[in-house]
Amino acid sequence: MSQEIQERVAELSAELHHHNYLYHVRNEQVITDAEYDRLFRDLQELEAQYPEHAQADSPTQRVGSDLSGDFAKVRHPAPILSLSNAFDEADLVNWEERNRRLLPADAQLQYVLQPKLDGLAIVISYEDGVLRRAATRGNGEFGDDVTANVKTIRSVPLRIPVDHDRGAAPERLVVRGEILFHKDAFLELNREQEAQGLPAYVTARNTASGSLKQKDSRETAKRKLTAYIYAIVDGAGDDLQSEWEALQFLSDMGFNVITEAALCVDLAEVARRLPDWEKRRDDLPFEIDGMVLKVDSFDQARELGVVGKDPRGAIAYKFPAEEATTKLVGVTIGVGRTGKVTPTAQLEPVFIGGVTVSNASLHNYEQVASLDIRQGDRVIVKRSGDVIPYVIGPVVGARAGGESAILPPETCPFCETALIQPAGAVDWFCPNPKCSERVMRTLEFFVSRGAMDIEGMGPQTIAALIEVGLIEDEADIFFLNAEPLLALEGFAEKKVENLLASIEAAKTRSFEQVLTSLGIDGVGSTVAGLLTDNFSSMQGLLDAASKIQLASESFAQTAEPLLAGEPSDDDAISKLRFRLRHPLTELVPRYLDATDLGDRLARLLKPLPSSADYLAALEDALSHLIAAARPLQSIEGLGPVLVENIVAWFTDDHNQSVLAKMLEAGVNMRAEEKVLSGSELAGQTFVLTGAMSVPRGEIKALVEANGGKVTGSVSKKTSYVVAGDAPGSKVDKALKIKVPVISEEELRALIGG
Ligand code: IVH
Repeated sequence: MSQEIQERVAELSAELHHHNYLYHVRNEQVITDAEYDRLFRDLQELEAQYPEHAQADSPTQRVGSDLSGDFAKVRHPAPILSLSNAFDEADLVNWEERNRRLLPADAQLQYVLQPKLDGLAIVISYEDGVLRRAATRGNGEFGDDVTANVKTIRSVPLRIPVDHDRGAAPERLVVRGEILFHKDAFLELNREQEAQGLPAYVTARNTASGSLKQKDSRETAKRKLTAYIYAIVDGAGDDLQSEWEALQFLSDMGFNVITEAALCVDLAEVARRLPDWEKRRDDLPFEIDGMVLKVDSFDQARELGVVGKDPRGAIAYKFPAEEATTKLVGVTIGVGRTGKVTPTAQLEPVFIGGVTVSNASLHNYEQVASLDIRQGDRVIVKRSGDVIPYVIGPVVGARAGGESAILPPETCPFCETALIQPAGAVDWFCPNPKCSERVMRTLEFFVSRGAMDIEGMGPQTIAALIEVGLIEDEADIFFLNAEPLLALEGFAEKKVENLLASIEAAKTRSFEQVLTSLGIDGVGSTVAGLLTDNFSSMQGLLDAASKIQLASESFAQTAEPLLAGEPSDDDAISKLRFRLRHPLTELVPRYLDATDLGDRLARLLKPLPSSADYLAALEDALSHLIAAARPLQSIEGLGPVLVENIVAWFTDDHNQSVLAKMLEAGVNMRAEEKVLSGSELAGQTFVLTGAMSVPRGEIKALVEANGGKVTGSVSKKTSYVVAGDAPGSKVDKALKIKVPVISEEELRALIGG
């Protein structure tokens, strides 16, 4: 028996060591994280049961570390512990039983249950209420000093308590929490990447980690990270008796705590709540990989103590794995409405996190190449939250030799037009706007909810209408009439009547909605809103785009002599030529507000000396282009790439003809006149803080209806801060820089009742 156990321990150790090496040194993942966890736990259990067989070099003795060479190291005031894992209810029952043996017989065990956030652990120290230091977990004893970066995260208070009437800060307080991307912030980040033609980030957790470990904190500041604080490491004094009280205290101090925590009277209550949590998982704003369960009473937790690097009083309940390996049997190719080509992996069906997955995203061909995913490979597939399952990478160690490369097709699989890859882009595109697949996707999007919202026009109806040639583009929808529809199979009178009624209704959608429906790359409802705030009609946008195009063409002509020379090895020259070739993205944003355009242009052109006359001509062409681009480029929130997309869309012949037909059919293409009930607040800027008598959105609408503006932060440009009940630090700021603070009543008085 003893011999067998010894062998099993050695076997597990060897296997774990092997996978550690593959993963960390060779960058190869052969088994999934969940499978690794399983082996790890088996070994841990054996070692706990038979400590005599535990080896000094056991993989369980290794403490994780995220230390990197770029940051100063700081020693944590107390070890930053980790948690042992439970995978099912039986594990939890065992855990409690073991704990009971260490506690008085009559001990009442209450638990705090809260989501286990899938981010990066952070330790933040405050002295006299002021944030002094923030460090990563590191190896539990030392961490990387990331103070400057953490300070850029808005949900981390730089001074506590945030609210003065919530008590005073202890002289010293060290707290622990997790830094992560909210799901929507991560999606947005990827949309931005995409708009700039850059590859998408794959996992939120790694991206959060990368963002936090930037050498330049300005880079961190650009990422919308969020911090949640869930524990006190040191310094809260003896007043607090339990985890639950600690959470309340942290919240009072103004930390972002997980509001979803629950105090459970016993383990049975915990077990009852767990399935709900698993169901709610996808609806939470952040990714979680399980639940953390902590003995509520600090006394009990102290008594239970620590084993290895894990406190006995807390445990992580891991949700079933959402990763699995399976075989990639084929690749299907999709073409979207913009023409973008996306490869999808066909898989041998595999059960992941409660769902059978038989296909998964491969993102794009560039990603496929860089991960070296091959047809026939065993691949690791991840399913997380509500995103489409995707392939993480191949199991290189499982290759048998017959696997073959996955390459982009040369022509569109739907219309056989040659695919193109725009310079600098990771994606391939079908450039044919009449491609049947593109038209199908364009129409599906056009009629969808949030876009034109045409009821009764599902994919099958669209396909049928395209099939018989009744529609070729989105505008044709508005010219449909009853007769030919009735002739179609499955189109009874009532159905046709309803469809035509909803098409009629769609003609009156707001300008913003119509603009969103066009499916312009990067123009979702937010950007459409920005555009309609600044342009009152579709014609205005068409005119602006065509002016930009004309000015671009004339700039290109003027710049021609500089571009015509021999290709150059000189970096400065090739960089300059690149800029001159892409003036809309490379020059206009830079010189938008330049008052000394001539001088700056002369400096820019140094690598290619030119005559004064020529410089003047180029300056003239550029200033025309800037003037043409200004109405679009000066809109806050529109980046240069987006402006370029918009110009390209509106100057395209096909798109122009679709718009002309829509206009002819009577589709709304103008913004509603903004109804101002008064202009008392014209030119004034307000900041709202604290609770008002009605939701703050209503106060904002009131201010705007009277010509005023509402912004989020107090500056010298703020006219008034309107303070409701329990206002925040904005009032302090206002007083400091002498911005008047008024009440809701006083605001109403300004408007005149
Ligand atoms: S409590 C002494 N609560 O999960 C243990 N940890 O696998 C204190 N984590 O290292 C940890 N969400 O980084 C706690 N609500 C939560 C958590 C949480 C995520 C992380 C933490 C820890 C790891 C353990």
